[in-house]
Amino acid sequence: MKLLKWFSFRGKGDKSIARKQQFIAQKISRRYCFSAVSLFALQSVVALLGSLDLVIPDLPSPIPFEFGRAIHLGLADLWPLIGTMGMVFFFTTAELNREIHSPRLARWQYWIVMLFSVSIFGTLALRIGNGREYLEGMPIFYAGICLALALASYNLIRTLLTDKRNITPASAIMTVGIIFLFLLLIPNTITYRNPITDEVTKFWVVHLWEEMAFELTSAGFIATFYVVSGLAPRAQVEKWLYLEASMAVVGGFYGTGHHYYWIGFPAVWLAIGSLVSVLEVIPVGMLAIMTYKGLKSVKVRSNREKLTLWLLLSSVFYHLTGASLLGLFITIPWVNLYMHGTYVTSGHAHLALFGSLGFVVLAGCYYILSRGSEPTLKGYKRGVLAVFLLNGGLITMASSLLVAGFIETYFWRILGIDFMEVRLLINPYLIMRVLGGAMFTLGDLLLSWRIFKAWQTTKNKKL
Ligand code: HEM
Ligand code: HEM
Repeated sequence: MKLLKWFSFRGKGDKSIARKQQFIAQKISRRYCFSAVSLFALQSVVALLGSLDLVIPDLPSPIPFEFGRAIHLGLADLWPLIGTMGMVFFFTTAELNREIHSPRLARWQYWIVMLFSVSIFGTLALRIGNGREYLEGMPIFYAGICLALALASYNLIRTLLTDKRNITPASAIMTVGIIFLFLLLIPNTITYRNPITDEVTKFWVVHLWEEMAFELTSAGFIATFYVVSGLAPRAQVEKWLYLEASMAVVGGFYGTGHHYYWIGFPAVWLAIGSLVSVLEVIPVGMLAIMTYKGLKSVKVRSNREKLTLWLLLSSVFYHLTGASLLGLFITIPWVNLYMHGTYVTSGHAHLALFGSLGFVVLAGCYYILSRGSEPTLKGYKRGVLAVFLLNGGLITMASSLLVAGFIETYFWRILGIDFMEVRLLINPYLIMRVLGGAMFTLGDLLLSWRIFKAWQTTKNKKL
């Protein structure tokens, strides 16, 4: 009975649909998820060495710090992107209970996104880059990623249009998310002489990808998972989904305005951005309440669903705190004036990008790669330990960064003390960040290993 529950999904109109087959798209989505988790494992190791380099400056390293940082930032965007592609294929077919339009295109898309992502990391390791923070690879490689996203958009639109009456909100919202990822990246495939145009187009990836497009793809997955696991009734989930989607689009577009003012836009953007940012907290708050109510009423879940839930709960927590509330605090113009670009930003970046988005993608990837294999109690406990280590590491890293950032703000920006003197003051907190990073890396490797084991157990199973 339990097994049937995994494969069944309450479709539109709350009719239970028993899943008899595994769609080819769902098989293909496994390679996306596997690659995403592997890149995540690599990211922590590289980042830990980077953080060590900041406190032991003469540490011998084949790659200079600035290029290591560039690879770290590239990974921070690309592994969640690759995982998201897999999740969207998997959960769209689950929602529609139908194959995607072209599995062959999805396979091509995988090789294209991997080729260009690896090219970005490889060339950066060879010290070839353009110095454009977050998008430091050669523009041609981003054109390749764009191509992969164009294929995904086409494939998903054709899938939805095959049977228009059967489109569900979650499948449509995930597709819109992918289309936005594509559209927002296009302007970043060329270079601009005007520094404001350059910054704005970059913000569409650094901020709008995260605050809008990924919000849509993640919301679709969360909604699907909540219904499948019985955490919330479909009607309630869909209400939240509509609100979340509209807030992500409106809030994302206008909320990004809080960044525009500082790069030369008129002051009205400061007001628009700050006011709309306040609204962005509402859907996250609603998700937290829905989760709380669901957890109170639903008791029995499989270990696989429980581990997925641990990852998702972590994401909801950081979405509310590190992304929304801390984001809101640093958006206040009088705060941003002094805190801009300090370690506070780095604290927020880690809490939001990994805490909120990274955890969702890991939840989705784990759920997909473990499909058809229930972890043993020991395996489940190790999985939970990994989630705790990730959380402990992230909180230690982020709080050290926040304290370092407050010191920078007060002593350097407000009191005007020399930068080098302030740098010495923050050194202990950067050492604490290394310790947090070590705990995080341990959790990362442990979780990746668990996911690898799940992948291994299920890879030849006919589901
Ligand atoms: C072992 C875990 C990690 C360690 C030790 C670490 C370390 C670092 C270091 C040394 C930097 C360079 C600038 C700075 O000093 O803050 C950095 C920046 C950054 N990292 Fe990480 N990182 C880790 C994990 C992650 C993860 C998992 C993500 C996201 C998926 C991430 C996203 C970022 C971002 C977005 C920045 C740029 C922040 C800014 O704008 O200042 N990091 N990290
Ligand atoms: C999941 C959602 C979010 C993610 C993944 C995210 C990620 C990031 C990242 C990576 C940065 C660093 C950018 C850089 O170094 O140039 C950043 C900066 C910033 N974020 Fe967010 N963010 C999120 C949500 C929010 C929200 C909801 C707000 C406001 C309500 C916000 C306000 C800010 C501000 C003001 C900065 C710039 C700080 C500075 O001036 O140095 N963020 N965010």
